[in-house]
Amino acid sequence: MEKTLILVKPDGVVRRLIGETIKRIEQKNMKIVAMKMIRITEPLAKKHYKEHEGKPFFNDLIDYITLAPVVAMVAEGERAIEIMRKIAGKTNPDEASPGSIRGDYGYNTPRFMCNVIHASDSETSAKREINLFFKKEEILEYNTAVI
Ligand code: PPS
Repeated sequence: MEKTLILVKPDGVVRRLIGETIKRIEQKNMKIVAMKMIRITEPLAKKHYKEHEGKPFFNDLIDYITLAPVVAMVAEGERAIEIMRKIAGKTNPDEASPGSIRGDYGYNTPRFMCNVIHASDSETSAKREINLFFKKEEILEYNTAVI
């Protein structure tokens, strides 16, 4: 079982795409084991995106992710990291296939890549990112076969 960090980004929250995003995660049999709405602070944004520091889009990326609240989730499942990246679609909404979240709802503006969702890109990133957003006790264990 893998765990991955998912963010419904500010453009997803303000466009009422929280439910649509969760629906697609659950539809793919992923188990949501942690969830909260938060306003990402600048220091947290810089930590989350630290590997992109120095890239031309970095400052705009920090402005975009702190514009409005995000919904942070931990999704768990077999090959959750790969599956969630597929559901999200390619990073650039202009290249993302229809049927993926970014392909269906994403767009570019002159400053921002409004690509609705973040999904961790590797096991190492997933562990690091989950620890940034959630305390250990906020990640729940439950059996889906009980009901
Ligand atoms: S890259 O180009 O290889 O560094 O891109 P990638 O590793 O796929 O993701 C970069 C994250 O920054 C966000 N972002 C942009 N990427 C590329 N170009 C532009 N102009 C840009 N603006 C923002 C992109 O959405 C990735 O964030 P996450 O949250 O991982 O999707």
